[in-house]
Amino acid sequence: MEQYVIKGGNPLVGEVEIGGSKNAALPILAAAMLTDETVYIDNMPDVFDTNVLLHALEGIGVMVKRTGRHSVILNAGNINSVIITDENIKKIRAAYYPTGALLGKYHEAQVPLPGGCDIGCRAIDQHIKGFKALGAEVVIEHGLIKTKAERLAGSHIYMDCVSVGATINVMMTAALAEGLTIIENAAKEPHVVDLANFLNSMGANIKGAGTDVIRIKGVTKLHGTEYTIIPDQIEAGTFMFAAAVTKGDVTVKNVIPKHLESITAKLMEIGCEIEESDDCMRVVSSKRLKTTHVKTLPYPGFPTDMQPQIAVALALAQGTSIVTESIFENRFKYVDELTRMGANIKVEGNTAVIAGVNRYTGASISAPDLRAGAALVTAALAADGYSVVDDIRFIERGYEDFEQKLQGLGAQIERVSNEKEIQKFKLQVG
Ligand code: UD1
Repeated sequence: MEQYVIKGGNPLVGEVEIGGSKNAALPILAAAMLTDETVYIDNMPDVFDTNVLLHALEGIGVMVKRTGRHSVILNAGNINSVIITDENIKKIRAAYYPTGALLGKYHEAQVPLPGGCDIGCRAIDQHIKGFKALGAEVVIEHGLIKTKAERLAGSHIYMDCVSVGATINVMMTAALAEGLTIIENAAKEPHVVDLANFLNSMGANIKGAGTDVIRIKGVTKLHGTEYTIIPDQIEAGTFMFAAAVTKGDVTVKNVIPKHLESITAKLMEIGCEIEESDDCMRVVSSKRLKTTHVKTLPYPGFPTDMQPQIAVALALAQGTSIVTESIFENRFKYVDELTRMGANIKVEGNTAVIAGVNRYTGASISAPDLRAGAALVTAALAADGYSVVDDIRFIERGYEDFEQKLQGLGAQIERVSNEKEIQKFKLQVG
């Protein structure tokens, strides 16, 4: 089993290139099926989730050709089935995106229900509500979500909660439905806007993405396009908080500063200095961190996908902070692991009360999910002594070359697969 072995205590210093957004890439890859023409996609992250989705698309006859590590060509002109049987797709949350795309184009889809990180109940009732409003029948049988429609017609849909996935799915299906669809209470995340831009570049007519109300005028056909995926706001935020936690000086490159506003605001509140330029952000952390309170919210609020990373920083701050998780109910599973490293955190319901400690000490810990796993690595990088992090497959779902990028910033981290390699690392770093 692959693990990370880490010797902490070094500030992270230097520059790191941020890759394409995983959460934008996943719907964009699925949406490429909405046309028979060829789609060229650039800045695609090479991570487990995108690779699983591409494999599943190939399984139903989508031509997938990689022209580079981050560029891929897709052609869905010869799809031979609307039934996805790929077993692996169940492991990822984005399993629900082929449903919206296949339903929009072929009026039928059968796709395994999504998995992804176990961070709480991840309902799909709003996806189903959207598909039904557009005229589809939806049943869940034998682990599959099965949808079918004689005709898809635009509709006025009020989302009962702000859902990234449901907003994206409805946009994909509605792009080829007859007439006007209005999504009220839509998600405003940068990846929602990126998908809308991608669809518009294929000839769709979508307005309002990035606001609460998205208006989609259905078109009869979409065409091929060339598209570059936006940078990953969460990967960038993770490295920015890694700088804060290790008292480092890190510049994240190839970012869109606007997408990072809620993250930079919190970094400044806790005492970091931020320098912003067109597509870079520098974070300098030189003093003991200060406390703050934070509540996760849909964009432009503080992202739930950054909650473990900020908690790792606040657990080293002087005083008590409160972190409230308002999106997913099971997102504090990393707290036990952080406690092994010396953190003092008490969780009650959806709130963590964090009493800052002076330092972390290295320990054997497990990554409970993708973002918490990355956050625990940043804690280990700040800790005195050695840590071993298990279950790093979760981290690989969404971070490309995580350990190499950290090594580039001076981190002492190695990917290992047995005790012998751990001992070798310890001998090497001393
Ligand atoms: C996406 C992201 C995930 C991020 C989350 C919130 C991907 C692949 N994943 O997940 O990284 O943490 O957005 O920014 O892009 N809900 C319902 N019914 C639904 C759909 C959602 O009740 O039909 C609830 C969920 O249980 C959750 C909240 O709405 O409490 C937000 O979920 P949603 O925005 O849909 O998250 P995902 O699309 O699953």
